[in-house]
Amino acid sequence: MASRMAALRDWIDARMPTLGEEYRKHLTEYYAPKNFNFWYYFGSLALLVLVIQIVSGIFLTMNYKPDAALAFGSVEYIMRDVPGGWIIRYIHSTGASAFFIIVYLHMFRGLIYGSHRQPRELVWLFGMLIYLALMAEAFFGYLLPWGQMSYWGAQVIVNLFNAIPYIGPDLALWIRGDYVVSDATLNRFFAFHVIAIPLVLLALVVVHLLALHDVGSNNPDGVEIKKHKDASGRPLDGIPFHPYYTVKDIVGVVVFLAIFAFVMFFVPNGGGYFLESNNFIPANPLQTPAEIAPVWYFTPYYSILRAVPPMFDSQFPGVLAMGVAVLIFFFLPWLDRSPVKSIRYRGPLFKIALAVFVASFFVLGYLGTVPTNAWGQFGAWLGDAQRATVVARIFSTLYFLFFFLMPWYTAHDRTKPVPDRVTAH
Ligand code: HEM
Repeated sequence: MASRMAALRDWIDARMPTLGEEYRKHLTEYYAPKNFNFWYYFGSLALLVLVIQIVSGIFLTMNYKPDAALAFGSVEYIMRDVPGGWIIRYIHSTGASAFFIIVYLHMFRGLIYGSHRQPRELVWLFGMLIYLALMAEAFFGYLLPWGQMSYWGAQVIVNLFNAIPYIGPDLALWIRGDYVVSDATLNRFFAFHVIAIPLVLLALVVVHLLALHDVGSNNPDGVEIKKHKDASGRPLDGIPFHPYYTVKDIVGVVVFLAIFAFVMFFVPNGGGYFLESNNFIPANPLQTPAEIAPVWYFTPYYSILRAVPPMFDSQFPGVLAMGVAVLIFFFLPWLDRSPVKSIRYRGPLFKIALAVFVASFFVLGYLGTVPTNAWGQFGAWLGDAQRATVVARIFSTLYFLFFFLMPWYTAHDRTKPVPDRVTAH
């Protein structure tokens, strides 16, 4: 058996040596730091969920109808009549939330270990482009079931473009292809969701990994393993990605799939957070639902949008603040001036700032899921809607301060000495 495999390998090698070279470059001879921990599972899990979304999406497309008159019914047909259709749909809809949970944890890992810092700025920037593409992908996909929330969510978001000075109204019309969200909008969103954005996403993931493999992975100590190599040029603190980390990642995959299966079988709607209850009502352009709230992964930004008051009757300041809240992540590699990368060696200022930022992300995320007219109802301590708006404003300010003050507090923090080699944590 082994000799047959070797013969097959030689046969391929003689015809396409690139395959073997790339296999060695990216797997068996890619030296990754030996101290990867829990936080390093999420890159491979993001890859797994990407594949899950593409495969389940292909199967959904076999029965879905991108037509305003048929879309809602076709999704119900998938859920009730297509054999296994319900699970394919839940895999895809729950998969979208799983994707964001994983990507947020993956980004957080970058933040705590300084993976966005020199020389991995491009890895971070490509990651951010992936994040933007992922947001677009989720937004376009959410219109497809043509439920009330799909329809009115798209209406609200496309209308935000109206607020852009001068070009806004024309831009919104151009995006919609109509004066309101309609069949024309559904058709183009379908095209973007099933082919255009997935192609962009796949290409970006490839570039993300190529950029990473050129410089090598960071690690929980934030030290460069390439500084100490043995006589044959291998990093002393590195181990071949395959088989060591492929095996480790399989552990993550198994645990993730178990949790994912549990959610799909027992709470596929995630208590209204993964699939909103209003979306089980067909889209009705003549009836605005009492509450319009995006899915949880957009809610921190949605809160910022709502927290900023209009100026001269224009929503533009809110839209701008929301845009800045997302795009500011691109600048992290340059905002962070700390002499150390990993949180293990950072001082109290960074740790406090990070904790406040995480808290504000959660508070804003929560406030975004609650309609403004109900903001007053969720606890006597908030009293009324106005006080809740104040809370949203305070936390939006804290959110931005994390970034705006970063050059100062990272430069002035009391850091600890960084070891020369990775530690054995
Ligand atoms: C489809 C989404 C994504 C996929 C499939 C993906 C995949 C990966 C993989 C496989 C790795 C190497 C393993 C690991 O370090 O965990 C990695 C590393 C990394 N990713 Fe992503 N990624 C995605 C999105 C993002 C986003 C949105 C960001 C940040 C904005 C990001 C930033 C990084 C950074 C900084 C590293 C290097 C980490 C280090 O070496 O410590 N990625 N990514």
